[in-house]
Amino acid sequence: RYSSEELDERIAEAKRALNNQVVILGHHYQREDVIRFADYRGDSLQLSRIAAGLTDVQYIVFCGVHFMAETADILTGDRQTVILPDHNAGCSMADMADAQDVEEAWELLTDQYGDTLLPVTYVNSSAAVKAFVGRHGGLTCTSSNADRVFEYALSIKPRILFLPDQHLGRNTAVKLGIPLEATAVYDPGEMELSFPHGGQDPKVILWKGHCSVHQRFEPGHVRAVREKYPGIKVIVHPECPYETVQLADASGSTDFIIRTIRQAPPGTQWAVGTEHNLVHRLAKEHPDQMIISLNEMVCPCLTMNRIDRPHLADSLESLVRGQPTGVIHVPEDTARWARLAIDRMLDVS
Ligand code: 13P
Ligand code: SF4
Repeated sequence: RYSSEELDERIAEAKRALNNQVVILGHHYQREDVIRFADYRGDSLQLSRIAAGLTDVQYIVFCGVHFMAETADILTGDRQTVILPDHNAGCSMADMADAQDVEEAWELLTDQYGDTLLPVTYVNSSAAVKAFVGRHGGLTCTSSNADRVFEYALSIKPRILFLPDQHLGRNTAVKLGIPLEATAVYDPGEMELSFPHGGQDPKVILWKGHCSVHQRFEPGHVRAVREKYPGIKVIVHPECPYETVQLADASGSTDFIIRTIRQAPPGTQWAVGTEHNLVHRLAKEHPDQMIISLNEMVCPCLTMNRIDRPHLADSLESLVRGQPTGVIHVPEDTARWARLAIDRMLDVS
């Protein structure tokens, strides 16, 4: 067991020893004591772009979750070694779309709808799912470009199969003026398509997945916070349920939430529906505003929180020894198709 000071010193010392051979990337949801060491902070799209642009370092240590590190590896190829300090830092949403289940769904849906479908996956998905999407002419999206990606996809084919977050898919469809009746939900457990809003001819087929953190921000929380703090503004991530997003004053990606709060005048009151580490950081950075969580009872992203200082110190020291641990390597036959899906997104956005 190391003291807090010893952990900080181990990390700082390993970084010094690596002498510019390592870049640490930190997602905005990362815990405070870890993100302090990040050379770059960002949302998942920004961090993908930064990883793709890094040419002269040997190692990328990704303080985020598994799919983000895979994306960095896909974009950097053999140029860099990507490290995820704890391989148990997965994403419960990404785990809801198993590549084999996606293959089976595709067979079933293309039997029904023929060649009218284009697959689109949220970047919160495994490399194997991204590769499936790339092989079938589709592309990835993030929460900051989902609307542009949907518009593009629908200019190619009349229907989208969207993986794995039903909420982001539904919220994006509605934002583009697609009625709820033109959305359907595919349940991979039941291998069944349902039409919870009526209708028969879906434009957007939503995979029945969700984020276990964001799904817990409910419309009742919006009403309760408005009752307690009249005039408060509610801003939420589009991974929250449709009814919550509809009631909120604003919704958008992590980066959108940060920019909106940064630009607000002093005295503004916010209830924020996203991961707690980010909400608490925003509150600290903007003491002239009142910033609270939309629901303090929602747990943080537990997998993101697995990246802690002991894991970060261990992985940096493994690099100093020249025996990297925690390496993320996506095999090239998967990576090339996944890269195609990501590159198509980067072109569109
Ligand atoms: P961003 O794309 O906004 O970074 O979100 C990633 C994520 O995992 C949200 O839960
Ligand atoms: Fe996945 Fe949700 Fe955590 Fe984001 S907040 S990494 S979607 S589990």
